[in-house]
Amino acid sequence: MAYFMGIDVSTTGVKALLVDGQGEVAGTATTALPLSTPRPLWSEQDPADWWDGAVKSIKQVLQETGVSGEDVDGIGLTGQMHGLTLLDENGDVLRPAMLWNDQRTSEQCDEIREKVGKERLIQITGNDALTGFTAPKVLWVREHEPEVYAKAAQILLPKDYVRYKLTGEYATDKAGAAGTILMDLKTRDWSPEVLAALDIPLEWLPKTHEGPEVTGTITAETAALTGLKAGTPVVGGGGDQAAQAVGVGAVESGIIALTLGTSGVVFASTNEPFIEPEGRLHAFCHSVPGLWHLMGVMLSAAGSLRWHRDTFAPDVSFDDLVMAASSIAEGSEGLLFLPYLTGERTPYPDPYARGGFVGLTVRHTLPHMTRAVLEGVAFGLRDSFELIKAAGLEEIKQVRVSGGGAKSLLWRQILADVFTVELVTVNTTEGAAYGAALLAGVGAGTWPDVKTACAETVKQTGSTKPRIEAVGTYEEMYAYYRGLYPALMKITHGLSNF
Ligand code: XUL
Repeated sequence: MAYFMGIDVSTTGVKALLVDGQGEVAGTATTALPLSTPRPLWSEQDPADWWDGAVKSIKQVLQETGVSGEDVDGIGLTGQMHGLTLLDENGDVLRPAMLWNDQRTSEQCDEIREKVGKERLIQITGNDALTGFTAPKVLWVREHEPEVYAKAAQILLPKDYVRYKLTGEYATDKAGAAGTILMDLKTRDWSPEVLAALDIPLEWLPKTHEGPEVTGTITAETAALTGLKAGTPVVGGGGDQAAQAVGVGAVESGIIALTLGTSGVVFASTNEPFIEPEGRLHAFCHSVPGLWHLMGVMLSAAGSLRWHRDTFAPDVSFDDLVMAASSIAEGSEGLLFLPYLTGERTPYPDPYARGGFVGLTVRHTLPHMTRAVLEGVAFGLRDSFELIKAAGLEEIKQVRVSGGGAKSLLWRQILADVFTVELVTVNTTEGAAYGAALLAGVGAGTWPDVKTACAETVKQTGSTKPRIEAVGTYEEMYAYYRGLYPALMKITHGLSNF
């Protein structure tokens, strides 16, 4: 029996997942990762932890499933995007990796807009310069740690550091590469113009590959360490959002993937490199050859609910907390929650945006606040959905919802009511790692292409339709929600200095 492995280097852990040639999950293993925030706005990890985590998880999943490394015919990598891993000429790590949620680079973003020209930058890369992206981090190291920068010879994304350790190759996938904003979205390769304007050498960047394309093979050393077979092909895979979309079958125009993880994502595949003219949506390559995607990212989606629970009801389970909120009428009796607990990206790329409850009265109880959190996150995600609709996509045929938060029926119902669309759930719940394993299967020839792989493995399991009676209330509440950020911006920026 042939198996494929997906490896997801996420922010919270490294997961290894095995699927068989029919797409059935044989098992998963995850090793938790530490995260370091040595200063306000900073977010870092040690690449050595990614590698240790990958080795442990690979060994564990092989051991627990009883699958021999000899039977793993391909490996796909996915993981957190945008992180900067700097290596010297010997392939040694120069400093802790600066992650996707590191917010220290506002000044460098301004500098990039100035050097390339904001409009030109959006025209070439599809994106504005945002603090989370990779390029501003390179400039930050150049300006703040010149002794480190002087030794730099290679720039890698987090999952591509694991790829380097697995295969000895410097390589990345097109979806991940687009998230550096050093890529020309149309040619699907590095942009000589942006690199020249920012004075970053092309030789520092790895070769870019399509999602199912083989980037290298498992070395003898890694085989000895993990139980995998030397020579096993490792495919490009994809940034976590593109791989997640593959994992739920959002691989054609018109199918939207809505993901409710710590962050929340609205993801739309496109047949062309569509660009939102002001760069408020991310425009990246898809992991499917020949496709691109638009995406809105909310930084604290299920992360908002976790904060709410941990802060106000640490002893209550998520199920009980949400169950109590289901008895509150839609609109939470006039209470709004603004989910910008870690700043925001879409639609306001603002590290200094802040959250809040607005409209509290003595009548409001914990269940009202819980419901307001669920509704506020839905309103914030609708902002991205509206931008995607306005970007001129063809008809939206279906919205597929996944991620931890989507397990809640109440949250799915609120989302369906707020978006006024039908939400569909699917059988595949292992997310990006599953998408990466399917890409490996395509690379190994088990499926002829990504669409066929998805059609044969991803099936609809349920559907949540909008309730006409709730839609009116939510339209009214959404209009008030839309007014909150502009009304509060000056105040929250001031407060963020404290
Ligand atoms: C995508 C993004 C996140 C990270 C972490 O733009 O920043 O999805 O990849 O999951």
